[in-house]
Amino acid sequence: MARSRGRHRTLTSVAGSLALLVGTVLVGAGAPAQAQPPPTLRELAAAQGLHLGAAVAGPPTLADPTYREVLTREFSMGTSENDMKWGPIHPAPDTYAFANADAQAALLADNAMAMRGHNLAWHMQNPDWLTSGTWTRDEAIGLLEDHIDAVAGRYAGRIVEWDVVNEAVGLGDDPWPNPWSASIGYPDYLDVAFHRARLADPSAQLFYNDFGIELANPRADAVYDLVRGMVGRGVPIDGVGFQAHLSVDSCPTPTSCTDGLLTEMARYEALGLQVSITELDVAIPLPADADELARQADVYRQVVLACLWAPNCDTVVLWGVSDAHSWIPGFRPGWGAALLLDEQYQPKPAYDAVAALLADPPALPAPTTTVPASPTTVAPAAQVTPAFTG
Ligand code: G3I
Repeated sequence: MARSRGRHRTLTSVAGSLALLVGTVLVGAGAPAQAQPPPTLRELAAAQGLHLGAAVAGPPTLADPTYREVLTREFSMGTSENDMKWGPIHPAPDTYAFANADAQAALLADNAMAMRGHNLAWHMQNPDWLTSGTWTRDEAIGLLEDHIDAVAGRYAGRIVEWDVVNEAVGLGDDPWPNPWSASIGYPDYLDVAFHRARLADPSAQLFYNDFGIELANPRADAVYDLVRGMVGRGVPIDGVGFQAHLSVDSCPTPTSCTDGLLTEMARYEALGLQVSITELDVAIPLPADADELARQADVYRQVVLACLWAPNCDTVVLWGVSDAHSWIPGFRPGWGAALLLDEQYQPKPAYDAVAALLADPPALPAPTTTVPASPTTVAPAAQVTPAFTG
């Protein structure tokens, strides 16, 4: 079920506004004038009731004091970028390697940050012992359930959202091949995974997570159909993660991405589901020039605005802390500069755009009401059209 995030946002907005007001009054009441540091993104997001997160690196990056300081200062949530995936955390049939994920969870807890879990079933970063084995359906169900018990169980109570299944839908008509679709069957393995995750961590919100589903396209429809089927079967799913790996050209007009995202988010809201932006980044061909950085800033603004406006979105996670910690250059040669901070942790135009938006977000435009043209025109009821054109 979708969370009552309107209430969460209203309360935290009031608290945030009061805090800012008190600060202003105290400064105005005669305290010695001191240059106040600008509010951090974390503070600005909290005032809007928004979780703003980042993918968290493993060692050695996690040990870097500057990295830790920026991560905990600017973000209120973290996700293990790699260390909760099957390969890193379950390297041998009877061996779990929790040290990296434990260190990330501890850093987040010590800094009052929320944690998303990523992920419990995927086609990538699986251990060789799993992918090279031949499993009967029952054996595979046992493996998947034992893994979920061990991993989701270990972090139970700490994870606000789990990506239970990642990228199950293929690029064509077939499901994406993975050990689970091959041995358990599709979509049965998703049902198995979600039911087990609910048992292993009853307080976590359970998400299906995928890429390229933020804006209308046939694959977004295929994912919607999959999720609607799960809801229809009574599978315990709470939300859908829109990864949002975008590029500088993703939003051709100043409203196209906000409008498109709101449309996609609305149909999940109608199913009673939450949507989170789970892996946001905006890639630019390198070297990035000033015009591209400005257009990148607008893509970020549009995505964050959609989450602020959607009643069923309260989480935006970036896929990395700074441009020094982004998967893009390694996987998409010639592209990069995809995050809010540059490789030296300096704010980019996109950082300033997100900060300005969070400091003073525009109100969701009121629905337009079509008034009858004349007294003789018979209208059955006022027609309400959404006006997501911010
Ligand atoms: O840690 C090992 C290291 O021990 C080894 O020496 C080295 C040799 O290549 O590999 C290291 O692991 C790499 C890992 O990143 C950590 O750096 C893997 O090879 C590499 O494949 C892995 O890439 C990750 C990718 O998922 C593949 O799983 C990226 O960092 C990570 O950002 C990316 O994240 C995915 C999300 O999970 C799902 N959505 C898409 C997103 C981007 O691809």
